[in-house]
Amino acid sequence: MDIKLLETELNEVVADVNVVFVKKDELEACEHAAILQKAGFMAEQDTTCFLYEKGVLVCGVDSKKSDDIRSAASAAIKALKASNFQSAKIEILSKSVLGALVEGVVLGGYEFNDYKSEQKKSTLESLFLVSSDLDFTKLEEIFTSSLIIANATNFTRDIVNKAPQEINPQTLSHVASNLAKENNLECIVLQEDDLAKENMGAMLAVGRASVHGSTLIHLAYKPQNAKKVITLVGKGLTYDSGGLSLKQPTSMVTMKMDKAGACAVLGILKAVSELKLDVEVHGFIGAVENMVGGNAYKPDDVLVSRSKTTIEVRNTDAEGRLVLADVLDYAQDKVHADYIFDFATLTGACMIALGQYTTGLMGHSHKLKHDISRAGSDAGEMISSLPFNRHLKKLLKSEIADISNTASKPYGGAITAGLFLDKFIREENKNKWMHFDIAGTAYTETPWDCNVYGGTGAGVRLMCEFLRDIK
Ligand code: BES
Ligand code: ZN
Ligand code: ZN
Repeated sequence: MDIKLLETELNEVVADVNVVFVKKDELEACEHAAILQKAGFMAEQDTTCFLYEKGVLVCGVDSKKSDDIRSAASAAIKALKASNFQSAKIEILSKSVLGALVEGVVLGGYEFNDYKSEQKKSTLESLFLVSSDLDFTKLEEIFTSSLIIANATNFTRDIVNKAPQEINPQTLSHVASNLAKENNLECIVLQEDDLAKENMGAMLAVGRASVHGSTLIHLAYKPQNAKKVITLVGKGLTYDSGGLSLKQPTSMVTMKMDKAGACAVLGILKAVSELKLDVEVHGFIGAVENMVGGNAYKPDDVLVSRSKTTIEVRNTDAEGRLVLADVLDYAQDKVHADYIFDFATLTGACMIALGQYTTGLMGHSHKLKHDISRAGSDAGEMISSLPFNRHLKKLLKSEIADISNTASKPYGGAITAGLFLDKFIREENKNKWMHFDIAGTAYTETPWDCNVYGGTGAGVRLMCEFLRDIK
């Protein structure tokens, strides 16, 4: 489907369907009030009513603000794709919602059909977004950038959704190097022998039972005159079986999504390079498969990490933090960044704390948390801070090593995981670092907002918003 921005009056545009957004309190005065009343349409948010003969699709909204328009546009595109119409038009109500409209249709209309033998065919060919606003150049700018960000989010979703027999640490590095080629990024891939030379004892242990060698992927976007340098780190567990601390069968299903942090980093680099932002961005990905086998790492093992910190393994399912420990340490050596952000589907506990719809944000700098939260709400991604404290930190104490990979008490599990990572952040970087736990937000089996079944691309929109604002 082709989305076009048109500078004209709505009635000048010929299309099969006109999409309109209606609030409850506008229903009575609406042109189609009588039919809508007969159809029992109450203008509830995300409900739609197709007036086929009139060529009108009415969409309910609670408000005409971005978050509600994004969600309603997703409902609209699904209804349009399910119909046999070929074209539709939407009037752009205000500059401030154009981005949300574009995201709603691109993200809500996303489908992943790689493994279906019969491809669904939609007849919808063109969607026109129409405005006669005088400041059309500004609209064009918003349109282009929103399209780049939404497409990068879908790029992230595509990789997350690919099955684990297709995406393993080796093939993930191919995805990254192809992106690098297409978008002119620098790309270095470290194989297991390189990781051994780097003394990455924690990361290597996690991948030891896999037949696919672990990789560390370093991508870089380096524009001239960059205002700031950003390091992004992604957890790339292409499969998390739990290892010898094996997951329950029902919890193991969906664990192909444990690479979503890595995929978000790839999506952000794609967007940033296409938006040509004036920031230097480095992406570091720890790509590993956590499996069982005769040579698997074990609970009771003591690992020596790259930073020389020794780690007592008490649960092989708390593997993401082991991978990130080494990748964070490596990244801090390679790049002196102004900000260090890691994205990881790190803990089920984060989902228990915040629900499935909110990303957990952890770190030391209140200012940075504030700026990131603002970017999140501007981008339409929900984020909430989970505060560190010294009492929870004590729960990671090990009797035999420098730190244990799990806390001695189960409560506050998202925060203790964040505090584990904190152990590997150098003193000079403490206020530059933020950890995003996207365990709840990165994947969904029930559609919500502009997210459909599968990977959501959590982190991409929010980070693009933050990076675009950097002065
Ligand atoms: N990848 C999981 C976390 C996860 C769970 C992500 C559910 C998405 C959905 C992580 O590696 C894990 O298994 N964490 C354990 C930690 C525990 C052993 C301390 C968890 O959350 O149970
Ligand atoms: Zn795990
Ligand atoms: Zn995991």
